[in-house]
Amino acid sequence: MHVHVLNGVNLGMLGTREPDVYGKMALNELESRVYAWARELGLTARCMQTDHEGEYIQAIHEAIRTAGALIVNPGAWTHYSYAIRDALAMLSTPIVEVHMSDVNNREPWRRISVIEDVVAKRIVGQGVDGYRLGLEWLAAWSPAEAQLAPTDPL
Ligand code: DQA
Repeated sequence: MHVHVLNGVNLGMLGTREPDVYGKMALNELESRVYAWARELGLTARCMQTDHEGEYIQAIHEAIRTAGALIVNPGAWTHYSYAIRDALAMLSTPIVEVHMSDVNNREPWRRISVIEDVVAKRIVGQGVDGYRLGLEWLAAWSPAEAQLAPTDPL
């Protein structure tokens, strides 16, 4: 399975950005780990980061054609971007939403995710490990189970 890992706004500043919240690891190191974890799990990965919402949406469009699954951390866009939500809704492949910090125990506005109903799995508050857990979840994901998901119409 080929997994695209899409990091959004401000995540290029990891390492220096609020290290007490997001840790000290820079994005390029995080991406190196993602590639290594993917290899260990028999997956292939491609990582990208952008601060531009339109570019992020174009990367989602591209994933529709070329990815078997997605891991997304849209950063603050998670909380209000219906454009990103609509783009993700076009995918029929599994999407994992990752947040390094525990968005449920920070400011109230971070509890809102406008994408949560179009993702298959959410992982919050696990730091960098959230991406590894996302890859592990995807490696174990089976389309047959998805067909039996309780949210599917009977
Ligand atoms: C984040 C949480 C968001 O609320 C925040 O705006 C980010 C990072 C996280 O990974 O914890 O930029 O998505």
